Amino acid sequence: MNKFAYFVYILNFILWKIGYKISIIYNKIKFSILLGEKCGKNFEVAGTLNLYFGSRKSVLSIGDDFHSLNGNFYNPLTRNSQGAIMVEENGKIIIGNCVGMSSIMMRSHKSIIIGNYVNIGADCMILDTDCHSLNYLDRRTRGELDSANVISSEIIIEDDVFIGARTIIMKGVRIGARSIIGAGSVITKDIPSDSIAAGNPCRVIKKVVDGENYLEFQQ
Ligand SMILES: CC(C)(COP(=O)(O)OP(=O)(O)OC[C@H]1O[C@@H](n2cnc3c(N)ncnc32)[C@H](O)[C@@H]1OP(=O)(O)O)[C@@H](O)C(=O)NCCC(=O)NCCS
Repeated sequence: MNKFAYFVYILNFILWKIGYKISIIYNKIKFSILLGEKCGKNFEVAGTLNLYFGSRKSVLSIGDDFHSLNGNFYNPLTRNSQGAIMVEENGKIIIGNCVGMSSIMMRSHKSIIIGNYVNIGADCMILDTDCHSLNYLDRRTRGELDSANVISSEIIIEDDVFIGARTIIMKGVRIGARSIIGAGSVITKDIPSDSIAAGNPCRVIKKVVDGENYLEFQQ
């Protein structure tokens, strides 16, 4: 790269970084207004994380030290995908402290609970609902019956879980503490604590670490 090309590269980087910082300030203001006291301290969201609330009853609560990168190559793995959090009329999403996620698509009809120190990889989907009725006559109505008869079930992601990129978490699933989910998994059943699980459907492939290694790391 010649000197001029390098200058252009650096200039481009600086502009990108300025955009990053501006989006963090903008999102901090936006989320503080929308969520009030339910928006934790050290909130850091870059890019576009869209919000949808079905009604004033919809609950979204985000703990301290939340970190989320959404589009604009802020997390290179998600390139330019924006994030979206949808909380339907009776839906509830509770996010603990020190949680990170990039370009998430999360939709709650019932309840999604995320613990503390959870890392959710690029481009994941978390859906506690089928979104449509399983009865074709209900779906034909494209309205009330379709949404009234939709099946939904709570999702719980316990503390210290690490979810690989492009994972899809389906309704009714509980992921036990410290478990790791392989990239591109589709989780349809509970995953016990301290497991490494992967695939479609997601199955446990081994345990996280043996006790000795864990103790060494702690020291
Ligand atoms: C799940 C993961 C942690 C396992 O890593 P590992 O402990 O080194 O495991 P290995 O590579 O030894 O694989 C063990 C087995 O699981 C399988 N496996 C690993 N990852 C898998 C995946 N994502 N989907 C399906 N199977 C997978 C391997 O094929 C192997 O199968 P085998 O025993 O039949 O040969 C890793 O593969 C992974 O997916 N990491 C997530 C990366 C990521 O998305 N980061 C987030 C970026 S934002």
